[in-house]
Amino acid sequence: MATQTAFRTTILPVDASKIGKLTSVPRPDDLLDDLKIELDDTSIDAQYLLRASVELRTSDIPVAFPTETVYGLGADATRSSAVQGIYRAKQRPSDNPLIVHFASLDQLRKLLRPGQTNLATVNGITSGDDPIPSIYGPLIKRFWPGPLTIILPNPVDTLLAPEVTAGLSTFGARIPAHPLALALIKLAEIPIAAPSANASTKPSPTAAEHVHFDLNGRIRTILDGGPCSVGVESTVVDGLSDPPSILRPGGISLEQLRLCPGWGNLQIGYKNAAETGSQPKAPGMKYRHYSPKAPVVLFECDTTAITTQELVHFLDANKRLGLVRTKFWTLDVEKGGNSLISKDITKYNGDKVFSCDEDEHNNGVAGLISTLKTSPTPRHAMQKHTIATPEFSSFELIDLNIGPSTKNVARGIFAALRELDREDVDAILVEGIDDSEGSVAAAVMNRLRKAAEVRR
Ligand code: TXA
Ligand code: MG
Repeated sequence: MATQTAFRTTILPVDASKIGKLTSVPRPDDLLDDLKIELDDTSIDAQYLLRASVELRTSDIPVAFPTETVYGLGADATRSSAVQGIYRAKQRPSDNPLIVHFASLDQLRKLLRPGQTNLATVNGITSGDDPIPSIYGPLIKRFWPGPLTIILPNPVDTLLAPEVTAGLSTFGARIPAHPLALALIKLAEIPIAAPSANASTKPSPTAAEHVHFDLNGRIRTILDGGPCSVGVESTVVDGLSDPPSILRPGGISLEQLRLCPGWGNLQIGYKNAAETGSQPKAPGMKYRHYSPKAPVVLFECDTTAITTQELVHFLDANKRLGLVRTKFWTLDVEKGGNSLISKDITKYNGDKVFSCDEDEHNNGVAGLISTLKTSPTPRHAMQKHTIATPEFSSFELIDLNIGPSTKNVARGIFAALRELDREDVDAILVEGIDDSEGSVAAAVMNRLRKAAEVRR
């Protein structure tokens, strides 16, 4: 088998507030404003961005870039050789369709009607029937740019490379809410196919260093725009089916979507907890996804806290256990024995601190520009404890408390799995959260159930 050439992988830090002037251009008759960019030629940030956009246009080696959900591994969606580069770098099976990212509705519409080049344009808006099915109008208006992917029909004379759609007659489209992602796509002037920029089966990357860890030597360029603000991938919705359905839970919730005209009957089209049950699964019995090296043991939120016997059960030769605590688990090393971890469900009773603000308003392109600095991913304080119990020999417990806020759990969960992996633990025990709380909680639990080898 031919071995792949190792590339020199460079991380290019780009501060979106330093690339030049970004303006939101209102399009009064349309669903979404456009982004106008005037690059500052003297800025190194702008030069890095330009360099990445040129690579996207000309090279078959994909470029990693930040979005508000997770880092994406991008390639020109219209060139087969470029899209094949994504599968090669990720070592991902090519039967999985990719999401195509756009910077504007105009760019998306052009792809949807490739045959028509001479459409009349009034006030910058192309006339005639909108090639975007009308059911998506309210969603685009409310949630784009943002963590929502819509399924669209792939035109018969499509410009998309067949590798993007994996043989389907539809494709997924998204306009991301990250100024660097938008600017990059806009400068490259091509639709960008991009899955998450992790190696296949690994947790999705929410920081440039995660991409570097997985893909060092496999790609040339990682645009570093800081940590991702959402932390889990976009919600995928199919409005072409009747009733419409959610194909993947993500940053936008079922409830939020159901409030939109035409979406009241939205169904869940992915397997959720109820269908897959919560019995323990034998390790290694399923295809792994979002998984660190160490097996993940997921405790559903309705289980009692873990006893020390159970902890010890997961110890292997390393005698090191990783623990990810979220809302209710309390670690009391002093107590030791079976009271080491307790669960206190009154901890945040009546306190909204732990839930997510589902009503956060999307202020479109203008809102994006006004908040150019993303909030940093919370750094987890890692605590290492040597636990000696009367019944068992001692072991090390590496504790990451990622806190009660659902938003922070989403932002930090993939990073936490990666941090514990670097500690060479025997297993990672994770305190699950209540997926009925909202979209982000459902998305987190959906990913954790896929990552887990054992569930309780
Ligand atoms: O947040 C995100 O969506 C990230 C960032 C980078 O934008 N991207 C991402 O892309 O997660 P990817 O390619 O890993 O996601 C593909 C998902 C899969 O669940 C796939 O099944 C679904 O989108 N998908 C793509 N095209 C589809 C289609 N034509 N029909 C049904 N599902 C589709
Ligand atoms: Mg992925």
